[in-house]
Amino acid sequence: MADAAELLDSGELLDQEALQALQLERLRASLHHAYANVPFYRQSFDAAGVHPDDCRALSDLARFPFTTKVDLRENYPYGMFAVPEDRIRRIHASSGTTGRPTVVGYTENDLSMWADMVARSIRAAGGRPGDKVHVAYGYGLFTGGLGAHYTAERLGCTVIPASGGMTARQVQLIQDLRPGIIMVTPSYMLTLLDEFERQGVDPRGTSLRVGIFGAEPWTEQMRQEIEERFAIDAVDIYGLSEVIGPGVAQECVETKDGLHIWEDHFFPEVVDPITGEVLPEGEKGELVFTSLTKEAMPVIRYRTRDLTRLLPGTARPAFRRMEKVTGRSDDMVILRGVNLFLTQIEEIVLRTPGVAPHFQLRLTREGRLDALTVRAEARPDAGPETREAAARAITTAVKDGIGVSVSVEIVEPESLERSVGKIRRIVDLRTS
Ligand code: DLL
Repeated sequence: MADAAELLDSGELLDQEALQALQLERLRASLHHAYANVPFYRQSFDAAGVHPDDCRALSDLARFPFTTKVDLRENYPYGMFAVPEDRIRRIHASSGTTGRPTVVGYTENDLSMWADMVARSIRAAGGRPGDKVHVAYGYGLFTGGLGAHYTAERLGCTVIPASGGMTARQVQLIQDLRPGIIMVTPSYMLTLLDEFERQGVDPRGTSLRVGIFGAEPWTEQMRQEIEERFAIDAVDIYGLSEVIGPGVAQECVETKDGLHIWEDHFFPEVVDPITGEVLPEGEKGELVFTSLTKEAMPVIRYRTRDLTRLLPGTARPAFRRMEKVTGRSDDMVILRGVNLFLTQIEEIVLRTPGVAPHFQLRLTREGRLDALTVRAEARPDAGPETREAAARAITTAVKDGIGVSVSVEIVEPESLERSVGKIRRIVDLRTS
């Protein structure tokens, strides 16, 4: 395999000073582009009393107003576009849980930049020209499938466009076509694991050597589980439609220490989710992105709702890293005043003997109090005593680690809903 260093592109080879100079130049251009071509940005900058010319240093970005998903929805479908509609080559959309979808658009140059960024990501994950890449992210309006597809081709890989679903066939394809790399949500990878076992095929014996997992939060415990069960390297890819799709940030396989943000195109800030104040490097808060080179739909200070912290670069020294996303501020469950994230429960469930990595959180209301039940699946070989011990262990770990009482139900193997893409693990049965 070629050494990663031999394959780095010109952006990855910038030193920090050159990167910052490039970022400032691009940031100013992006602010001007948004202000000149999108009425929403002109109004919001004017209302905040700022003009693109006021941005003389990267830190001046903090003077500009935020953009939220609500702003995108209110300008549905094309109000945020900064180029004439006939320059748009592709539309994607994110479904969202309520109301209208958010529509995003790409020019020819945007698609090309996106392909470069995911190609950079696949390479950082250990992919090389000539590799076969099995893409099991959904194809369609979701950015996962097509986003991975064209970029793997750009890197010189062979793409197997499996998309999500038809799980039995996926296992067959992996055995017959012998991909080295799989790109899929971590929850669907677990569904594939079950199917390997159901078909009596050893998941450790496949041609796969790397999995590139993203589109939903997942934990270090889940990494260990997937790496051990499949005998592969599991690395994290992050992105969101509004900013481009997958390929905003990527974990390097040699360090597996968080995701390098491709900062020559996407400028990150971490802010206090309540006050909006920019936080210093290393402090945890909400991730905010400004696109530096996008033409069709520039985003200025877009509030992702994702919670993480910024860290200095390692394997790609000029690019800062983001810690694995632990959750979204709007996915947080507040249970009797205690903030609880799905990833905290995932960590506990995955380290408990006798339970499978499949779980669900059920929220109910008892009188005026919210109650949470953690439903975790028993492993097929777990007898009644192991199950009882597992329930006790999870209850205690949640109480001690998170500080709140929950009920735990250990349910039968294969009884919880399986993922075919992004999984929803929280079932909210509260009536109001
Ligand atoms: O999920 C893009 C994507 C596709 C990323 C494939 C990676 C792989 P959206 O559908 O717009 O785009 O959802 C974006 O998904 O704000 C996060 O909350 C979550 N998310 C994406 N990647 C990760 C990750 C795609 N690696 C939203 N870890 C984001 C945690 C992630 N959450």
